[in-house]
Amino acid sequence: MPPPDNQQILKTDLLEDAVRIARAAGTLLKERLQTDFSVHYKGEVDIVTEVDRAAQDLIQDQILQKYPDHGILGEEDLDLHGASGYVWIIDPLDGTTNYAHRFPVFSVSIAVAFEGEALCGVVYNPMSEEIFQSVLGEGASLNACPIRVSGTDRLDRSLLGTGFPYNIRATTDTNLGYFGEFAVRTQGIRRCGSAALDLCFVAAGRLDGFWELNLKPWDIAAGALILREAGGKTTDFTGRPLGLDGSRVLATNGRIHDEMLQVIRGSSGEGQDRD
Ligand code: IPD
Ligand code: CA
Ligand code: CA
Repeated sequence: MPPPDNQQILKTDLLEDAVRIARAAGTLLKERLQTDFSVHYKGEVDIVTEVDRAAQDLIQDQILQKYPDHGILGEEDLDLHGASGYVWIIDPLDGTTNYAHRFPVFSVSIAVAFEGEALCGVVYNPMSEEIFQSVLGEGASLNACPIRVSGTDRLDRSLLGTGFPYNIRATTDTNLGYFGEFAVRTQGIRRCGSAALDLCFVAAGRLDGFWELNLKPWDIAAGALILREAGGKTTDFTGRPLGLDGSRVLATNGRIHDEMLQVIRGSSGEGQDRD
């Protein structure tokens, strides 16, 4: 159940704080990009830098300073429970692989949820200084200008985004099958390296659709809300509404959603060379 109407002001306050904190974390990411930060391997491909952790610490401190009874779920082993029922879902650095290679496409993603529903969200790209933000029921904006999804209504005229799982060397769930199917049916596919930005790019009409497997709540909580508030649609791969814990994500302008679902249903998702 959403919080009562008298918490409407709080929703806006929460967003204001989320934006302030995302800006501070984004500034830290930008300042440290050209420094000699350390990189650790979480898996064979999956990496984390000391800057991921520094940004998460900064975000955690700032949230708890103002909201000591709020919970926080963050990518870097952070799962704090709070009595209020509010949970901040944060990815302090979405696009770590890009960051570690000094490829300047990454973001800070922060959403605030109440009883399983995102109330507000912000995704900040400190390199382009773009702030995507949204409050539930109040639309979405980019640097304070309202945004809407594209009007593209055919897959063969669409530009899509996607990503690949970190465990691609070990899993059969590679996404290479879907990638092949969409590559021959669209105008192109982009792999930006930050799922939060991919979702916002669909929201802003820069992409018409996005799909990915194996995403986590911190990748999607803010971006999915921003996209829906910009008029887009988010589901899982069977067409059911996407929850905060959804991992197979289909996110589109709404108009090409069914066509994308049909392609997904007809594909195993695995690359042919791995059968
Ligand atoms: C990753 C990025 C990437 C997506 C991966 C995510 P991280 O997040 O969003 O675009 O393809 O699935 O794990 O690890 O850079 O925060
Ligand atoms: Ca992420
Ligand atoms: Ca991350």
